[in-house]
Amino acid sequence: MYKEDTSITIKTGVENMSQKEVVNLLRQTVWAKERKKETIIKSLNNSICYGAFTKNRQQVGFARVITDYATHFYICDVVVKKEFRNKGIGRQLLKTITENEDLKPLLGMLITENAEKFYEPFGFTKNPICFMTNK
Ligand SMILES: CC(C)(COP(=O)(O)OP(=O)(O)OC[C@H]1O[C@@H](n2cnc3c(N)ncnc32)[C@H](O)[C@@H]1OP(=O)(O)O)[C@@H](O)C(=O)NCCC(=O)NCCS
Repeated sequence: MYKEDTSITIKTGVENMSQKEVVNLLRQTVWAKERKKETIIKSLNNSICYGAFTKNRQQVGFARVITDYATHFYICDVVVKKEFRNKGIGRQLLKTITENEDLKPLLGMLITENAEKFYEPFGFTKNPICFMTNK
């Protein structure tokens, strides 16, 4: 029987990400399934990247943060590989992000359609201020 090693390490920094695995992970999402590879790579190069890796160095989770390091940070593209969900990996990614000393004083933002419960333990609550976008 196939048995996956589920002990996970979180790594930070674009240089530690597997571009191929991040593209595959984003293909599993509703919002980025059609995002071009070049766009994904550009976004990685301009974000703080977080990856979840198995002992076999397979990347099974990803999240990124966009920030000015002065006022706000924005968490996006949070995704865990389907077969690895509900094992606490997403929570490990969020814990690493929210424990970043540079980000702690800033206003954190994110958009979610249905995963409020996932973010609430990290101090995120629904903000009644209307969110506007241009797309
Ligand atoms: C959301 C996602 C990243 C969570 O990762 P994960 O590794 O499965 O999450 P964890 O195992 O750390 O779960 C932690 C908790 O969040 C909850 N949770 C996970 N996904 C959830 C969701 N979509 N909605 C509400 N709660 C969720 C779990 O029930 C768990 O709570 P519990 O311990 O009280 O049962 C993962 O399900 C995923 O990749 N989903 C598809 C992409 C996506 O929707 N990303 C979020 C966009 S805002």
